[in-house]
Amino acid sequence: MKIKKIGVVGAGQMGTGIAQTAIQFGYQVLLRDNSEELTKKSLSKIEKNLSRLVEKGKMTEEQKKGQLALLQPSPDLRSLAQSDLVIEAISENPKIKIELFRELDKLAPKETILASNTSSISITMLGSVTSRPEQVIGIHFFNPVPVMKLVEVVRSLRTSDATFQTAMGLAESMGKTPVSVKDSPAFVVNRILLPMINEAIYVLQEGITDAKGIDSAMKMGCNHPMGPLELADFVGLDTILAVLEVLYQDMGNAKYHPAPLLRKYVEAGWLGRKSGRGFFDYSEQKQ
Ligand code: 3HC
Repeated sequence: MKIKKIGVVGAGQMGTGIAQTAIQFGYQVLLRDNSEELTKKSLSKIEKNLSRLVEKGKMTEEQKKGQLALLQPSPDLRSLAQSDLVIEAISENPKIKIELFRELDKLAPKETILASNTSSISITMLGSVTSRPEQVIGIHFFNPVPVMKLVEVVRSLRTSDATFQTAMGLAESMGKTPVSVKDSPAFVVNRILLPMINEAIYVLQEGITDAKGIDSAMKMGCNHPMGPLELADFVGLDTILAVLEVLYQDMGNAKYHPAPLLRKYVEAGWLGRKSGRGFFDYSEQKQ
């Protein structure tokens, strides 16, 4: 199936990054979030990111204008659902995602593919609440989306070959390297990455060293571009907790038990960079 128009639901950091990347590769994009304020912020962030690329000489002002013309906020879910492919990038909450998939299934033409950017939730389960499980798939991008090369393409038990091929082709056409993964809790990257981040939080909780010490150790000792705690702040501590909860519940293994300190941070509203405070303080930084 040839994709021309993509609907992106959710204007947080992932939805924003997906929308930006899609227009940069020539797709028409309709973007929608329940919060109008977030949608506005997202559009202005995309505009700023593209302007920075113009300043760096990586594209012309004309190209920027052309790309921005491909991006529209969607007035309602019904208009957005008229896209060839809808990608959901809302918060990592199974109940809200199920509701959205039911709604999209009602509103979208029968050919439309419904994709999720979930970090951990079962694609098979999301497909099963629709009348089109063969056209439901996981297309999991990584943060920051315009920069990170990987896309995990997650086939549910019922995803058709045609949907799978379309998703692989779409990721490639957006300059990404797609990797096919089975539908399993947290897929591949987060299955491996999240236990490391969780362990870093246990190390902090046990007072083995402080947050800066943990991050310096992993950056200098393992050549990681960001320390695990800075990365957790970057992803969002609510998302980190949600993914660990899926891993713990679905795998039934104590090694995935979220560190109690992580839960406390989320309860405190210290969600990382987006809230101005996480393991580090971002109150002075521009978001
Ligand atoms: N949007 C667009 N471009 C961005 C960006 C953003 N948010 N952040 C950085 N960039 C670009 C910069 O403009 C720069 O581009 P240039 O080379 O053309 O000038 C390039 O990326 C490098 O940026 P910087 O020089 O500012 O900074 P760094 O070299 O420190 O790189 C980083 C920043 C790429 C974010 C790097 O720190 C990194 O790779 N961090 C780890 C990211 C990671 O692990 N992501 C995966 C998270 S897990 C996930 O997303 C899964 C989810 O399900 C939880």
